Amino acid sequence: MRSDGNLAVMSLRRTVLALLVLIGLIAPGDALKCNCTNCEKSGYECETDGACMASTSYINGQEQHVRICIPRESLIPPGQPIFCLSAEGVLNTHCCYTDYCNSVDLQVPNGVPERAIWQGTSGSWGPVELVAVIAGPVFVFCLLLIVGVFVFQHHQRNYNHRQRLDVEDPSCDHLYLAKDKTLQDLIFDLSTSGSGSGLPLFVQRTVARTIVLQEIIGKGRFGEVWRGRWRGGDVAVKIFSSREERSWFREAEIYQTIMLRHENILGFIAADNKDNGTWTQLWLVSDYHEHGSLFDYLNHYTVTIEDMIKLALSAASGLAHLHMEILGTQGKPGIAHRDLKSKNILVKKNGTCAIADLGLAVRHESVTDTIDIAPNQRVGTKRYMAPEVLDETINMKHFDSFKCADIYALGLVYWEIARRCNAGGIHEEYQLPYYDLVPSDPSIEEMRKVVCDQRLRPNVPNWWQSYEALRVMGKIMRECWYANGAARLTALRIKKTLSQLSVQEDVKM
Ligand SMILES: Nc1ncnc2c1ncn2[C@@H]1O[C@H](COP(=O)(O)OP(=O)(O)OP(=O)(O)O)[C@@H](O)[C@H]1O
Ligand SMILES: [Mg+2]
Repeated sequence: MRSDGNLAVMSLRRTVLALLVLIGLIAPGDALKCNCTNCEKSGYECETDGACMASTSYINGQEQHVRICIPRESLIPPGQPIFCLSAEGVLNTHCCYTDYCNSVDLQVPNGVPERAIWQGTSGSWGPVELVAVIAGPVFVFCLLLIVGVFVFQHHQRNYNHRQRLDVEDPSCDHLYLAKDKTLQDLIFDLSTSGSGSGLPLFVQRTVARTIVLQEIIGKGRFGEVWRGRWRGGDVAVKIFSSREERSWFREAEIYQTIMLRHENILGFIAADNKDNGTWTQLWLVSDYHEHGSLFDYLNHYTVTIEDMIKLALSAASGLAHLHMEILGTQGKPGIAHRDLKSKNILVKKNGTCAIADLGLAVRHESVTDTIDIAPNQRVGTKRYMAPEVLDETINMKHFDSFKCADIYALGLVYWEIARRCNAGGIHEEYQLPYYDLVPSDPSIEEMRKVVCDQRLRPNVPNWWQSYEALRVMGKIMRECWYANGAARLTALRIKKTLSQLSVQEDVKM
């Protein structure tokens, strides 16, 4: 009788060989020769693509020996083929996979629970078994790897497909984004579709994700501004840093205020927040204006009287539209900018202005006479802060206070423009307001001393009186700069005065 250890080895060997045959590592094409007790005609031999089998049964007190071939398709289930099973006390069966390996003599001890007893080869590992034991796990590993790669690729394909759907083909995009549509067409659709609050969000996302960034054109407090291309046209992309998510959201929210669109307010196209796995990219897409900001423009060029009136009138028109509340379902709330300055006004190709950077704006909810966010005391750019903002006397419960503060800043912008006006061959170099009274990047305290305590304002030169346009501009500025906010002009009043001036001076807008 063999030891239990030997039996375990034999059982393992059987399982491995059966598996190898099944998975094709031992080529069944090389027919296996076996002893065959029923094959008189072929000299007691048979050939098979499966296994040789020897069995000994104990029937009616007699041992019967059978040796046959088992075809490959009968070797199921793998590992323990039914044909190779023994039955205790009745049948001892042995399957094997080398030529004539079933010539072994098996015994079925009478009445004793049977165990497979193989008296053939010894329990040590042969080369086939060794190969099997090494190749088996390697094969299984490779199989798992292939399955893994396949599953991964499948997942990737699905993901890319989903992304493409997201990007290029959300179910309704085709309504807006027919291949031949330009940005101008889109915006036209938008202004005639009646909603007045911007493109649907999925179209915004689609547009944003098909923009190709070209070059960086500026850097501000909240991030970078890039020129991008979309369907052959230029767009501006303001990319916020991840920690400025609230600013991004607020600016997008304000730009999508119903009926905000106006020729003198920067044309908003899309907002998109794209999670790239590591961080969230926050984009705000708008019209691109190659002249850049009014600050850039005035630094580069002097302006004629006509240019000056165009810039000033268009800026007033934009601000008047922003400030104005329009009643009715298609109306708009009054909006105060709170960060008006020459860097936040863009110059369009036709020489008119577009007010930009609405991230700090507040909206008036007239029904409840409240402001749509809790406004913080001092936001914006210190140099352009109105006296009541600098000394914190501004009445923040009163929405009009914020409009008055905008008008003060508009007056400073007019001063920057008028200084660059070339009348009769005279013009001045570009300077920021209060350039002669405060250092660069002044503190609130430095500004407060000059603007509130000393009540100083930028200088309006006497020679401006010699030119009607400059005289009017000078007068408007002073009336924008009153210490008392309520006494200042309104944007609408300024717009009317400058409209008259433009007619007088024969300016073509
Ligand atoms: N739509 C646009 N078209 C062309 N140029 C633009 C556009 N928007 C911004 N720029 C350029 O990018 C620059 C940076 O703009 P951004 O608003 O980020 O900063 P800023 O206005 O200069 O400073 P701040 O952060 O104080 O607002 C602008 O000064 C302008 O030159
Ligand atoms: Mg800005």
